[in-house]
Amino acid sequence: LKIYEPAVAEIDLATAEMSKYNSKVDRKLSDMHGLYQDVEATDKMLETGDPVTYIYYALEQPSEVGQLTFGTTIIYPGKVGDEYFMTKGHLHEKENYSEIYVCVAGKGILLMQTRQGGVKWVTLTRGDSLYIPPHWAHRSVNIGDDNFAYIYVLPADSGHHFDTIVEKGFAKLVVEKDGKPAVVDNPNHIPW
Ligand code: NI
Repeated sequence: LKIYEPAVAEIDLATAEMSKYNSKVDRKLSDMHGLYQDVEATDKMLETGDPVTYIYYALEQPSEVGQLTFGTTIIYPGKVGDEYFMTKGHLHEKENYSEIYVCVAGKGILLMQTRQGGVKWVTLTRGDSLYIPPHWAHRSVNIGDDNFAYIYVLPADSGHHFDTIVEKGFAKLVVEKDGKPAVVDNPNHIPW
């Protein structure tokens, strides 16, 4: 039996900036190539630089049943074409695993989808806390003018599966339409 030590991280509850993490990822626009519908707009933006569109921090724990990993995600404001900055989106490799989000800043839409055809989305602002049940893929979209940021907690052995979303997309896109955020059908979506 291995007994682990309790661990403390520091999270700024105004911004979701985290310290004492053991993992940080900067997701640049080039990492998202092909995920935004407007590939031409993606390429055009990449001509003048490769902005970081979101970051996430984690206090990762060993990938074992019973362990939890937690951290924060911060999505910057911006758009590619009409589509708001967003995360890649994933299923958990262990698809029967769930996750909790607690929004601390900004305004976002959580797109969720199952292999069984379920499609849902919710809007999150500070204090909104979301339970993502097993089997729901999830993507976060920043629909505001400021950072959209949240704390997440998930089983440490969840794993992340991106291929289905990279190859087939989500059923819905979150775009600016008539100056406002709108959730619209993705014309290029292939059923999962
Ligand atoms: Ni997840």
